[in-house]
Order: sequence, then structure tokens, then C-alpha cells
Amino acid sequence: MTSRTLILGIETSCDETAAAVVARDGEGRGEILSNVVLSQLKDHAPYGGVVPEIAARAHVTHLDRLIAQAMAEAGLNYNDLDGVAATAGPGLLGGVIVGLTMAKAIALASGKPLIAVNHLEGHALTARLLQDVKFPYLLLLISGGHTQFQVVEGVGKYHRLGTTIDDALGEAFDKVAKLLGLGYPGGPQVEALARRGHPQRFDFPRPLKGRKDCNFSFSGLKTAVREVVNDLGTLSDQDVADVCASFEAAVAETMADRLKMAVHQFRTAHPEVPNPALIVAGGVAANQKLKAVFERAAALHGLQLIVPPAKLCTDNAAMIAWAGAERLALGLTDEMGAPARARWPLDAAQAPVYGSGKLGGKA
Ligand code: KG4
Ligand code: ZN
Repeated sequence: MTSRTLILGIETSCDETAAAVVARDGEGRGEILSNVVLSQLKDHAPYGGVVPEIAARAHVTHLDRLIAQAMAEAGLNYNDLDGVAATAGPGLLGGVIVGLTMAKAIALASGKPLIAVNHLEGHALTARLLQDVKFPYLLLLISGGHTQFQVVEGVGKYHRLGTTIDDALGEAFDKVAKLLGLGYPGGPQVEALARRGHPQRFDFPRPLKGRKDCNFSFSGLKTAVREVVNDLGTLSDQDVADVCASFEAAVAETMADRLKMAVHQFRTAHPEVPNPALIVAGGVAANQKLKAVFERAAALHGLQLIVPPAKLCTDNAAMIAWAGAERLALGLTDEMGAPARARWPLDAAQAPVYGSGKLGGKA
């Protein structure tokens, strides 16, 4: 293998169809040569959430064109590649099968190794594509399907500190938006309206605050929002803004508390790391109020905060190609029989948490 490797990545686990090419040099530095993402948001918007069959059909329709575009933008032929990486799970199975099968076909036809990537590993390693982040570090993944803390010990080496026991954080934002009659996805709209609202008007619960573990729970908070909305009956614009602001305030306080516990556990496990990196990934990381919480926590606990740009924080194929490159560098390739998986925890040794890991949900 030459010291610089070129990897094609394919992502089809939810409602983004994506293809990208990244390079990894001998020192482990990454470079994105192309990164093409087609969002299916408008296809799913009328249903208030992602419809698995619509997603799978759209991947079939668009994936070959997007791969061709990613290869053309990178100026490469398949023969130039060192490997083909695709998300093999977790996610919506129909979509995962489309991307993984495509990757197998390209790998077979061009005689290149296949790398079957865990989508969550893609999120977990993205920061290393952009800068030299040393293991171990703390990862907070907050997306539409996952809310978890992981200690990233190395490529393929994860220790989950905590996860949601019910709804994911992005899902909670989306459900609150739905209760308020706002569109999907709800997070950005809740955030925008919250700016005009009073965060103290409604005293929503701060779920699991003070608990010694690092888990999350958002379904009780959502229920509290529903009760307030029902009690109010007809909502004025100010009511909607106040609910959004009060909900966001509850989430922010909860996240600060959970983060404190996670940092404590990380430091107990790794006293040798003086200023650990905290990587925040997933669509909810775009929220400015939460970003301020992470910045305060980083200053308070001596962490190096890294929030990759939104394009690389939300689902994309560059992160899959990069995880493939990191795995290939360690000789971790996969057989053609590699399965597509709806569920695939990063930390195989983790105790299952009741209610966590939505069936087929976004990752
Ligand atoms: O990572 P992502 O793009 O897709 C996956 O879930 O994989 O995350 C989407 C989620 C949605 O639930 C969306 O409502 C939420 O991220 N989100 C936000 C914001 N932007 C996106 N939540 C809160 N505030 C935002 N600004
Ligand atoms: Zn994701």
C-alpha cells in the first residue's frame, strides 16, 4: 500500500444519499477530495418523519449518479482507489443494503478492498479527518436517532459512558416542534422561535439531573411540553416562542449536568490526559444555545472543544470514507459477505439500556 490512500465512501443509512472521496496520508492527515450529499428532506417532510421505503427507493434512484459525481470531482477512476467504504449499519435496513451492495459491486469490479463501516464510527472519527486529535477523547453524539457519550479509545475501540433511555435529543426537538404545529425537522425552528421567547415562563423538568450515571431521558420533558400545550389550548405566537425557549432551557441545563458526569467518568478512566478533547457531533450540535453550554463546560472542565462544521457533523459520506481510511490503515477490511445491520452498537461490550437505540431510527 502506498503511504497516501484514496477511499470512496458511501452513506445511505437514513435520508441522505451521499458519496465522497477522501485521502489519508502516511502521517494520518486527511483531505476531502469530494463530498456530495443529496438530502431527501422534502420527500419525507409531508409525513413528519423519515419513511423507510421512500428513503430506500430514493437511494436506488440517485446513488450511482452521486458516486459518479464524487469520483469526477476528485478527478479519479475506480482503479485509483485503495478501498471502497460504505455504511453497513446501524440505520434503516433497506437504505443500508442499497449503499453496501453498491460498494461491494464497485470493490469486486475494481479488485479493491471493501470496508464495512459502522455509521457511528464515522461520526466518532470525523474530528481526526480535520485535525490531529489524539486518542482517547470524549464524544458526545446528538442526532435525530442517537444521544450518547462515548470514550473513543482508538479506531474500533469505544466505551459507551451513557445513552438515552428513551427519545434521542433531535427526536425530542422534532416532537416538540410537531406539538407546536411547526414543520419537520423541528430543531432549527424550535431554536429560531426560542430566541423570541421567555426561557423561565414554563418550569419544565430537567430529566435525570443529578444522577450519577451519564444517561439521558427526554420523553418526560416532551410529555411536560404536551401538557402545557394542551392546557394553553389556543397558542399565541408568544406562547409558542415561550414554550420553545423554556424547552431549550431545560435541555441546556440537562446537557450541562450530564456533561459534568461524563467528564468526571472520563477523567477517572484516563487521569493521564490533562486536557481531553470533547467532540460534539450530530445535527443537534448546530444549536447555538447548546454550543454555548459546551463552550462553558469546556472552559470549566479544561476540555478542548471541537465541533466539526455542520456539513461534517450531519450525515455525510466523507466521514464514512475517512473511517474506512482509518480502518484500512490498520488492515481492517471486510469480506464480501459483510452483513447490513439495522442495529450495531459501537461498544459491543455495553450493557443494553432499555429503550435506547431506536429501531431503524436515524443514526
Ligand atoms: O445528524 P442529523 O442531521 O441526522 C441524524 O439524525 O443522523 O440530525 C438531525 C436532527 C433532527 O432531529 C433535527 O431536528 C436536529 O438534528 N437539529 C437541531 C438543530 N438542527 C438540527 N436540533 C436543535 N437545534 C438545531 N439548530
Ligand atoms: Zn448520523
